[in-house]
Amino acid sequence: MVNPTIFEISSPGRTGVTFPEPDVPAASLPETLLRDNLPLPELSEVDVIRHFTRLSQLNHSVDTGYYPLGSCTMKYNPKINEETSRLPGFAYLHPLQPIETVQGALGLLYETQEWLKEISGFDAMSLQPAAGAHGELTGVLIMRAYHRSRGDTKRVKMLIPDSAHGTNPASSAMIGLKVVQIPSDARGNIDLDALKAECDDTLAGLMITNPNTLGLFDENLTEICDTVHKAGGLVYGDGANLNAIIRLFIIPPCNSWRKL
Ligand SMILES: Cc1ncc(COP(=O)(O)O)c(C=O)c1O
Repeated sequence: MVNPTIFEISSPGRTGVTFPEPDVPAASLPETLLRDNLPLPELSEVDVIRHFTRLSQLNHSVDTGYYPLGSCTMKYNPKINEETSRLPGFAYLHPLQPIETVQGALGLLYETQEWLKEISGFDAMSLQPAAGAHGELTGVLIMRAYHRSRGDTKRVKMLIPDSAHGTNPASSAMIGLKVVQIPSDARGNIDLDALKAECDDTLAGLMITNPNTLGLFDENLTEICDTVHKAGGLVYGDGANLNAIIRLFIIPPCNSWRKL
């Protein structure tokens, strides 16, 4: 069934909310803010609610069906997390609100950062990236800055396993790196021979997700990281699936996964 757009169900003159007569003198708006034409749909409140509720029911969601993808299932947020993020103390914060009124939220961010440092084994952590792909972009920019800081300007090649999420090659391509896809072997691991063949002095690094987007732990992670490091490259660990490796692996400062 094709659902009409909200403009198609609009009726001229219909409104969702009727304001009471003002009890203060009316003031006119500045001329520059006035316009002759404002093409917005005109509907009652209940028409709008019904329209968007109908559309929302067309979405496949974890509440109504199975998610067959490995990584997105693992990072699915439990309902309690969604409830928590909706607490008024978080949901109604304003970015420009006085600093003394947001100490609770800042304290929570600081603690999260300290926990992530402990979990990941890194010395420092940034909570600035707003999503997975944004974090990837931050990571590949750091990798590029590292090579440039050493005057190593020919390192422009980023290796990405064919099991990777599409945002990995997109993030690397966005900053002008050359993306080379590494095939998986019959067990779903990164093909080691194909990886070694690409590890030369133009290597910027490897982006790896563990477990990968198929939901598989790569059996050769230590060897993979060592191979890339020996060639002068860096390894980016995609955090999308971090919850699945907590308590199984640590990533010590040398940036190689180690099984606990
Ligand atoms: C393995 C992996 N990496 C990166 C991303 C990108 O994350 P985001 O959607 O938060 O930008 C996803 C998203 O599904 C993912 O599954």
